[in-house]
Amino acid sequence: MALRNILREGEPTLRKRSRAVTDFNPRLHQLIDDMRETLVNAGGAGLAAPQVGVLRAVALVVDMEREAQDDSERIVELVNPEIVASSGEQTGAEGCLSVPDLYGLVTRPDIVKVRARDRNGKPFEFTGKSVTARAICHEADHLKGIMFTDIAQRYLSKEELDEISRGEGDGEGHDGAEREEG
Ligand code: NI
Repeated sequence: MALRNILREGEPTLRKRSRAVTDFNPRLHQLIDDMRETLVNAGGAGLAAPQVGVLRAVALVVDMEREAQDDSERIVELVNPEIVASSGEQTGAEGCLSVPDLYGLVTRPDIVKVRARDRNGKPFEFTGKSVTARAICHEADHLKGIMFTDIAQRYLSKEELDEISRGEGDGEGHDGAEREEG
């Protein structure tokens, strides 16, 4: 495994549409393993392949609902993800590993069901709530070349972010507001 460089906003690759994965081969597995390491290293809530310069429909999200020792055990690997159902609404702070230190208010569904394939091509469905639903939407957007900065209602000051963090923190270091979605 190896850490990959995370592209910053302004890189044209981030604005392109990713292609579907058709070969579930060792090269894909290497990409996913590298993305896992890069995501955990960065402490994000998710990461999409275009963020490491690969225009393939691969995204990782950290499932905050899952009981686990650490984030690496919470990572859900989504290959060719497609959001098939969503409900509810949440408006909250969102950030991105490609846009460090910037957070904005973004409205997303509260519950999102995604259909995807695993690294071996096997289809599965996954449902995320709250911050996990937010991460799924954020990463699905990356695969279409959409950044959260395109849809943020407005940006948040440090003071506002601190206030949201205090209100939403669960005391386990998984504060939705302070995490960059990826
Ligand atoms: Ni992002």
